[in-house]
Amino acid sequence: MTAPIIVVDDVHKRFGETRALDGVSLSVDQGTVLGLLGPNGAGKTTTVRVLATLLRPDSGSAAVAGFDVRRQADEVRSVIGLTGQYAAVDEKLTGHENLWMVGRLLGMSRADAHQRAEELLERFSLSDAGDRQVRTYSGGMRRRVDLAVSLVGRPRVLFLDEPTTGLDPASRLELWDIARELVADGTTVLLTTQYLEEADELADRIVVIDRGKVVAEGTADELKDQTRGRVLQVEVADRTRLDEAREVLARMAPPEDIHVDTSTRSVSVAVGTDTALAASAIAVLSSAGVEIADFTLERPSLDDVFLELTGSSADATTEDDR
Ligand SMILES: Nc1ncnc2c1ncn2[C@@H]1O[C@H](COP(=O)(O)OP(=O)(O)OP(=O)(O)O)[C@@H](O)[C@H]1O
Ligand SMILES: [Mg+2]
Repeated sequence: MTAPIIVVDDVHKRFGETRALDGVSLSVDQGTVLGLLGPNGAGKTTTVRVLATLLRPDSGSAAVAGFDVRRQADEVRSVIGLTGQYAAVDEKLTGHENLWMVGRLLGMSRADAHQRAEELLERFSLSDAGDRQVRTYSGGMRRRVDLAVSLVGRPRVLFLDEPTTGLDPASRLELWDIARELVADGTTVLLTTQYLEEADELADRIVVIDRGKVVAEGTADELKDQTRGRVLQVEVADRTRLDEAREVLARMAPPEDIHVDTSTRSVSVAVGTDTALAASAIAVLSSAGVEIADFTLERPSLDDVFLELTGSSADATTEDDR
């Protein structure tokens, strides 16, 4: 059992009439990745800004590495790194200069700051571009230098606010690898994302927020199970026996959970998390003499879960959210 290193307890934050955070509670164990998932305007960035001491909560408490974000802001800042949703590097400086400057701001000697800058440029495959102004970098390179900047001080806790939004698939994979390396080295990561796939890939646990409230949490698997759960789809060998198959299944499951699809010659039944129900459905069909050509037991995708929980699709963008 590891102890939580991030604890958020009933945090509220309003902007005028907008309840950006409406009683958010969550915790993150040391050395793990929490995926904070939610649609536009859900309160992800606001949560990160509260934890990074950039914004004071109206009520509730939040602590990082045991330090209270309100009363011990300096201590919190000394253990965290933040890569914001929008690039924070200076475009007119080179990659090396950006990193060097942050090192100096953190109190490193000139030599140490240069060394750290070189180390990070190398780690992020930016050595060749290190002496070029950041404004000449591609989007993926900017993201990498942004992440590198947040790592200068070797943070124990790293906040990544939508780190891969707008990146091409290759750059996204590269960033995921870097994030995994950091976690392997013991860093705790709180990652916000609108990409379910990203949360599925990187996060040990996922918290789904919507309109400032936590609407679900758990591992990706647990979230998939919390919703409609699994669906057993059975393809019958003889199309004319589909209705019979439906009737047989109706003895064990409510009619609204059973669907017949004549085009695929199949009947499906929602079995929730009860795999035994799936097995007995197949047994019941067989013993009724319905020949089964094929069957699958499918789990909902994280996309289905997200849609069901928030009522909006993961990639939907709205105009009024900023
Ligand atoms: N400084 C601010 N002033 C006024 N309203 C704000 C401010 N910051 C956030 N909000 C509002 O608070 C709500 C939550 O915003 P937040 O930026 O936390 O959402 P988000 O989950 O990060 O969304 P996105 O996926 O678009 O980045 C939104 O309705 C937003 O318009
Ligand atoms: Mg945001």
